[in-house]
Formats: sequence, structure tokens, C-alpha cells
Amino acid sequence: MRMRLFRESIGNLRWWWAKYRLANSNAFSWSGAITVPANEQLRQAIAPKPRLAPYERLAPLWHLHSRRGSPRYERFLPAMRRRFNVPLADVLDLACGVGLFAARLAPDCRRVVGIDSSGLMLAEARKNCGRHANVCIAEGDFRSVVLGETFDIAVCAFDSVNYVDDADGLRDVLRTAARHLHAGGFFLFDALGEATMRKLARVDSYFLRFGPRHVMCHYFDEATQKSRTLVVFPDGVEEHVRMPIDPPQVAAAAESAELELLELFRDVRGLRTFYVLRKPREVSQSAGFAT
Ligand SMILES: C[S@@+](CC[C@H](N)C(=O)[O-])C[C@H]1O[C@@H](n2cnc3c(N)ncnc32)[C@H](O)[C@@H]1O
Repeated sequence: MRMRLFRESIGNLRWWWAKYRLANSNAFSWSGAITVPANEQLRQAIAPKPRLAPYERLAPLWHLHSRRGSPRYERFLPAMRRRFNVPLADVLDLACGVGLFAARLAPDCRRVVGIDSSGLMLAEARKNCGRHANVCIAEGDFRSVVLGETFDIAVCAFDSVNYVDDADGLRDVLRTAARHLHAGGFFLFDALGEATMRKLARVDSYFLRFGPRHVMCHYFDEATQKSRTLVVFPDGVEEHVRMPIDPPQVAAAAESAELELLELFRDVRGLRTFYVLRKPREVSQSAGFAT
């Protein structure tokens, strides 16, 4: 009895530590940016600059952003295996970006499939994952992709899910995850909420040492209730529009996708929330399929 209690306490402690490590993967290292209060003059000067497609200039630099900012899910997955006894053979990376997570995970998995909607990011991902025969990188929209196979775990890292347009989009991402999970499989993701997006809108971030210098100016648009990030390069500006996602929206989307919301936790600065969802072992026929 005492031994069991002891083992349980150690297990809980290890689980707490794994969550803490994931949420704070990069909290104590420099992001590479100098962050200053929003500069109105700069914001006026960039307004007429030519618009570039999202990731048109960022894609070849994204490995630097991802390395410094993307939560380290590959370190968290062994803790998932211990806690829930879930195999880590087949992993789906939704919005894989330049494929760093897939490449890091590949040696420990049977198969990793990375999906992204940006051809530019995928081109980088193919370079980064080329040496891993068990990684497949494919173009797809995380709201609607149908791969015809199922996985042990699906991950959507580094605020990618914030790129949806509305609550239906969020529900569709969760449904995509649900239809690609084995019964009992897990979906892990992180998202920025409204408070963080409002906080970000008060600052500009200067990336001075990341290849071509660039500045990120964040806005919070009251009319649409969305965050707009302008990434300013010498020859133009990328615009990234994202929707804030908070726990009540995730709870509603999870219910609609027939996923159980098991855990949510935050980093020490309260910027980002992490979600652990599970596909129940018994689900109705319609689960995971768009209606
Ligand atoms: C912030 S980056 C994160 C990339 C990667 N997960 C990482 O940790 O570095 C967001 C990614 O989401 C992708 N994305 C945005 N909307 C998408 C969609 N509808 N379907 C699939 N990917 C999408 C973008 O192309 C981009 O690669």
C-alpha cells in the first residue's frame, strides 16, 4: 500500500515536471529578439510597404525561430508514454512548419507524418527531414486533410492552431486530429489566448541576428477580435492573422470533435496554454468526420 502510494507520488511528480519542462521549454533562454514598446512612427512607415505572402521571407529563417521558440514536444512524448502507456510509434505533426520536430522525433518513432499548408515551409521541411526515411512531409490544411491512416499521437505546435479563422476552424482542427487518431490516442497542442495577444500588441520585436534583420509588430484588432502580426523585411511585409484561443473555446471544440480534454497547463509567464486531449476508446460513428 505504502509502496503504491510512493510510486504514485513519484509518477505525479515526474508528470508535473514533464509539463513544466514542455511549457517552459524556452522561457529561460533569449528569444533572439530585442523587444521594445510599440513605435508608432515605425508602424506608420511600414503601412505602405508591399505585402508579401505569409512565410515568403520567414520560411528560410523559420528554423531559427522554431529552435528558439517552439515547445519541445519530442521531450514530452516519453512522459506521455509513461503516464498513459501510449505507444509512440506513429506521430502526426499538424502544421509541421520547417519540420524540426519531425526530424528530432524520427529516430525514436516508426513513422512521422508532417502536414502544412505552406509550400515554402514544406520545401524547408523536406530539406530538414530528408535524411529520415521514416518521415513523410505533405501539403494539407489542418482543418480538412484526410490521410486515410491513424496515429498514436498528433501534435500541433507553437501557436499554429491560432491560424484558424473562427470557432468552426478550431473545431475542424480537432476533428482532423480525432479522425487521425487510434482509439485512445492523444492530441497535444498549445495556443495563445486573448490576454497574451493584447499584451503582445503593445510591443515590437527586433530580430537583429536572424539572417536578414526583421521586425515583428503585433496589433490586436478590436473589430475582428484577432491578432495581426506584421513581419517587416527590407523589401516588404508579411501579414499573419491569428485568432485568440482560450480554454472555453477548446472545451467546446473538444466536445464537438468527441475528444476528452484531459489537461491544460501554462508556462510560468502565463503566455501560452498547453492542451492534452484524448480520443476515447469507444466513440460514435460520426466522431472526427465533418457534418
Ligand atoms: C508558427 S508556425 C509553427 C510551425 C511549427 N509547428 C513549429 O513549431 O515551428 C505556424 C505554421 O502553421 C502553418 N499553418 C497555418 N495555417 C495552416 C493550415 N490551415 N493548415 C496547415 N498548416 C497551417 C503555417 O504554414 C506555419 O508553418
